[in-house]
Amino acid sequence: MRLKGKVAIITGAGQGIGEAIARRLAQEGAAVVIADVNLETAQIAANQITEKYRRKTLPLCVDVTNSQQVAEMVRRTMEEFGKIDILVNNAGVLIAHEITEFPEEHWRKVIDVNLTGYFLCAREVARVMRKQGSGVIIQINSKSGKKGSYKNSAYAASKFGGIGLTQSIALDLAPYGIRVNAVCPGNLLDSPLWVDSLYDQYAKKWGISKEEVRKRYEQQVPLGRGCTYQDVANVVVFLASEGSSYMTGQAVNVTGGQEMR
Ligand SMILES: NC(=O)c1ccc[n+]([C@@H]2O[C@H](COP(=O)([O-])OP(=O)(O)OC[C@H]3O[C@@H](n4cnc5c(N)ncnc54)[C@H](O)[C@@H]3O)[C@@H](O)[C@H]2O)c1
Repeated sequence: MRLKGKVAIITGAGQGIGEAIARRLAQEGAAVVIADVNLETAQIAANQITEKYRRKTLPLCVDVTNSQQVAEMVRRTMEEFGKIDILVNNAGVLIAHEITEFPEEHWRKVIDVNLTGYFLCAREVARVMRKQGSGVIIQINSKSGKKGSYKNSAYAASKFGGIGLTQSIALDLAPYGIRVNAVCPGNLLDSPLWVDSLYDQYAKKWGISKEEVRKRYEQQVPLGRGCTYQDVANVVVFLASEGSSYMTGQAVNVTGGQEMR
């Protein structure tokens, strides 16, 4: 119960890593706002979390690229809970193409959700946290925020940008007692992102089977396995808690040794 009595907003928490983080924060004692563009999955996740952990939840339909909806998310959270201790910017998309074939609208979509969405949520929540004189902002970044990604330029550009944003707003907000950090996971090889789309996309792109795609990615990790939700949630809880009170502006790798910078 390292986050007892805390209030956390998690974006993109209807499924995948965001949902796993919401569950874990609730398990650690926090009330959780499950914000997702898909209200149905947000409601299901919220109901399950309330039932399992007996914690307050608030499911909200929020598109992080829409500043009005983001403002409404913050307003509803304040109305319900009266404070915001933790923001986890997790909502993200991946659309991959080789550079000469990259449709402009796909580029703009990736930058819009992954980078502008992070900016809009952080800006709105920081206004509340500044008044409180406390708070923690965490971005779920990627190892693609540290090193270029083959045929995946928009995603890497959005995540590199996310680290620049993290470092810069950490400076803006440090005087107000607000810490801002990013987590850079390796490949979550069992997540819906991989299972529902990436194995397929990469298998077609490279002309190999989906099993071979998985093996290829596991072999790149010094610790020999894909990243898990638990691996990511462990670090998010640490960054959200007092244990990391002297850390801000960091982008922490959770990659099994695959990325070391
Ligand atoms: N899966 C991986 O291997 C992996 C690795 C490193 C980093 N990440 C990062 O983790 C985060 C979550 O990834 P995931 O694998 O759980 O993805 P996912 O596709 O399973 O889930 C993303 C969630 O975000 C929501 N979402 C999408 N666009 C949104 C928007 N505009 N506004 C609000 N919600 C929106 C979706 O509805 C979905 O519920 C992303 O930022 C991703 O870049 C994922």
